[in-house]
Amino acid sequence: MKKIKILNKTFTKPISCLTAYSPSIAKILDGKIDLILVGDSLGSTLYGMKNTQGVTMDMMKNHGNAVNREIKRSLKVLDMPYKAYDNKIDAYRNAKTLLNHCAPDLLKIEISEKKLVVLKHLVDKKINVISHIGVTPQSYKDFNKIRVLGRTNKEKRDLLKLAKQSETLGAKAVLLECITADTAKLITENISIPTIGIGASRYCDGQVLVFDDLINLTTNNKKPKFVKNYFNFNKIASNAVKKYNQEVKLKKYPSAKFTYN
Ligand code: KIV
Repeated sequence: MKKIKILNKTFTKPISCLTAYSPSIAKILDGKIDLILVGDSLGSTLYGMKNTQGVTMDMMKNHGNAVNREIKRSLKVLDMPYKAYDNKIDAYRNAKTLLNHCAPDLLKIEISEKKLVVLKHLVDKKINVISHIGVTPQSYKDFNKIRVLGRTNKEKRDLLKLAKQSETLGAKAVLLECITADTAKLITENISIPTIGIGASRYCDGQVLVFDDLINLTTNNKKPKFVKNYFNFNKIASNAVKKYNQEVKLKKYPSAKFTYN
């Protein structure tokens, strides 16, 4: 049985991870979820951008700091944004800025063959890194072009190679996005660091979801197959808003109970 460990934490059950972009959400998640990720998905989810390429260091610094101040028990993970780690020098400088400003336990970067040198450099500088492979959203201008990977033998081989290289270079975990179940299983069984999946099957050592998807807070009608709404915030909030609007029109709100004398 594979030992699931990240930094000084050993997990006896699969790792759970959710995103948080704000302190109020961080407070809800802290201690209930193993890892909390300030993901650059905030670009599309929160700021309504078409992709994550417009996410800046300042955005990650501000959200990372606001979220991480609230986290006392879970492990804190922060995404490095697009263009912040194009080469070793920029990567180290920006990683240090994020570490100083937001104090995450781990930084996550999207890895391709070309970016392995950056991963190595950050690890050599004693930075804890999660390697994100499979579908790497920062490489897509158009999210409609995203498709599941790992279906062909070549994709399977390449992904396994990238995961193994990430391990060898010192990544603390590998995040697998949108890959087939058999490829996720193959990778999980062939590396000793944990795999955390999003759209990558139950064979991973852990799972991650975007919090807004979990509670159905998104405006996106086309949801990926792996998204499960555990709660329909959209519907409940819409009803509350309609009720408030009605009460204002009928002068029922604010009643005496909500009025200063
Ligand atoms: O940015 C993010 O939220 C992510 C998850 C989708 C894994 O990277």
